[in-house]
Amino acid sequence: SPPLAPLAGFRQYEGPLVTVVMDGIGIGSRDEQDGVFMANTELLDTLFKEQLMVAVKAHGLAVGLPSDKDMGNSEVGHNALGAGRVFSQGAKLVNEALESKEVFNGEVWQELKKRGHGGGTVHFIGLVSDGNVHSHIDQLYRLLDQCVADGIERVRVHALLDGRDVEQKSALDYIEPLERKLAKCCGESFDYRIASGGGRMVTTMDRYNANWSVVERGWKAHVLGEGRSFVSASEAVRTYYAEDPAMTDQYMPSFVVIKDDKPVGTMEDGDSAVFFNFRGDRAIEISRAFDETDFNEFDRKRVPELFYAGMMQYDGDALIPKKFLVQPPAINATLGEYLCATGITSYAVSETQKFGHVTYFWNGNRSGYIDRDLERYEEVASDRITFDLKPWMKAGEIADKVVEAIESGRYKFIRLNFANGDMVGHTGVEQAVRVGVECVDISLGRVLGAVKKARGIAVVTADHGNADCMWTEKNGKRVPMVAHTLNPVPFIVKDYNGANNFRLTGVADPGLANVAATLCVLLGYQPPEDYFPPLVELVG
Ligand code: 3PG
Ligand code: CO
Repeated sequence: SPPLAPLAGFRQYEGPLVTVVMDGIGIGSRDEQDGVFMANTELLDTLFKEQLMVAVKAHGLAVGLPSDKDMGNSEVGHNALGAGRVFSQGAKLVNEALESKEVFNGEVWQELKKRGHGGGTVHFIGLVSDGNVHSHIDQLYRLLDQCVADGIERVRVHALLDGRDVEQKSALDYIEPLERKLAKCCGESFDYRIASGGGRMVTTMDRYNANWSVVERGWKAHVLGEGRSFVSASEAVRTYYAEDPAMTDQYMPSFVVIKDDKPVGTMEDGDSAVFFNFRGDRAIEISRAFDETDFNEFDRKRVPELFYAGMMQYDGDALIPKKFLVQPPAINATLGEYLCATGITSYAVSETQKFGHVTYFWNGNRSGYIDRDLERYEEVASDRITFDLKPWMKAGEIADKVVEAIESGRYKFIRLNFANGDMVGHTGVEQAVRVGVECVDISLGRVLGAVKKARGIAVVTADHGNADCMWTEKNGKRVPMVAHTLNPVPFIVKDYNGANNFRLTGVADPGLANVAATLCVLLGYQPPEDYFPPLVELVG
């Protein structure tokens, strides 16, 4: 990317521009269902009344998802924030590639087919739900149909249970139809079954190296056939529910399906495996376990000779995984690239659970630095617990780091992510959600205090909603709503130096993709021409 051109008439100011992403804090119904509204947030309440405040869209088409029925998520939200434009996202690209059958003509599918015809089993591992954040069960069905059409005789599914992007206890709504579907695929010589699985937060889908034991547990279940055994996946789910009424899908222990006391689907030489999630953060670690010959994160014990592919390539720089079915969105010319080309120093920080969000997702799913000399990324280690137990998470520590970065005077552009609204929101524990949002409010206060002292500008926004809806009604009863929402999120500019006069541009249908151009303006530069228009402008 070329350097950005200065904005005519802009008066430079001394302090930094600080962008705060309050993960999972949307603008909800403003009643008792809304955890942001219910929390005691003196600062946010006043910020919501600021002149330079606009509600921006953070879901559906506005962030590159297939339809406006799709809630937002952190990947697409941070992609839009950091790239200033909307790219068709994994959910949509995979649908299109399956629809056109393009996937099945590619060399990866041909290799699967060849191995299948040679007596190898084809394994599908992934999240079984219609959450459409990491995967969609309809896409798995398409892959299974093609296996049948291609005469692949032996297929095994390793089913990760959701309960996080969908209802907490909805596993059977997906597992039972899947079992029926697989039974239907089974013909005279066909043998299709679920072989293993487990709750996504304890099996396979760790992210950002937060806890590799999660991936190890998945390896054991999917590859080695080690774990508590059941005669079927639905039997496993029913048993776990019965044994612990508080059990929800995302935390359900792993399981292995057996027949005659033997696992029905371990992975063996000559097999192939497809990880069918399209989103990368929680797919990278397991992909590394399959792809790397020199692998030291845990002892794999036995490494079969497998052909492994992802639904997508999850990291285009590190080439993880090497083989994949669908080309990922080509997110280019990100704000980060422009700022580096312009020589602007920047600092990014969050805790482990959201660290990749403000770096990898923000930079268009690119890992690592764009320019080491100009950038510094810092990670605060997250606790390895469910965050209803410590809803404050690391908000205080992140604020410490930001205050320090501001006071150092070393960075012109600072960005951070407070994880609480989202990570606590996903637990569905109302009291904890409120406390989490209050912690964000208090920590945001410290950040804004430092921006004020440094005479900078603060931007306060979010990547999607979550805490803004804590429950829904089902059959007259309240059930916790742990997933993200369709709500818009706040975009607020708090200018503490007054060197310039800004006003809202009033662009039609504002969304997260309008933020990057706005940040350019607030830094005194003309936004790149193809960026979505800015939300604020300079008053002459
Ligand atoms: C997760 O991976 O935790 C959820 O599926 C989505 O949450 P995020 O998009 O906020 O990371
Ligand atoms: Co989330």
